[in-house]
Amino acid sequence: LVASLEQVEQTYVMVKPDGVQRGLVGEIISRFERKGFKLTGLKLFQCPKELAEEHYKDLKAKAFYPSLIDYITSGPVVCMAWEGVGVVASARKLIGSTDPLQAEPGTIRGDLAVQTGRNVIHGSDSPENGKRETALWFKEGELCEWTPVQAPWLR
Ligand code: TYD
Repeated sequence: LVASLEQVEQTYVMVKPDGVQRGLVGEIISRFERKGFKLTGLKLFQCPKELAEEHYKDLKAKAFYPSLIDYITSGPVVCMAWEGVGVVASARKLIGSTDPLQAEPGTIRGDLAVQTGRNVIHGSDSPENGKRETALWFKEGELCEWTPVQAPWLR
């Protein structure tokens, strides 16, 4: 019933500025909570340009990169760290395809967005990036280790 520690992954999920502006923060957090993942970090945060550039450094050569950096720094974001077995791939499923018009109904982007450039949420694409991005967006003291007593299988 209780997963072994090495199976537990971390992912970095972020409500982008359009999600905050549109009042979708509660709706989005709620979907991850109801799924049953464990929240280990949460904050409202105005992202500095340098951090946005570091986070999206792999996309630097893309034509949309400058507008992506402008978008992510245009207002506060909600930073979240979630933990659990299989959390990285499962979060990506809950989030849906990058282009919201291609995202399945029932997913966050499928239900709540229409434009790739305003797709309301980010989620890490691998366990390695989950660790990297969590460390990038949160200082150590901002993360909380705790055991959900009502659902110990969540650790
Ligand atoms: P990407 O890492 O490919 O997608 P995802 O967020 O689903 O992991 O791209 C990062 C973000 O860049 C994406 O969420 C929105 C933006 N973007 C554009 O603005 N235009 C594009 O054509 C693509 C592919 C992404």
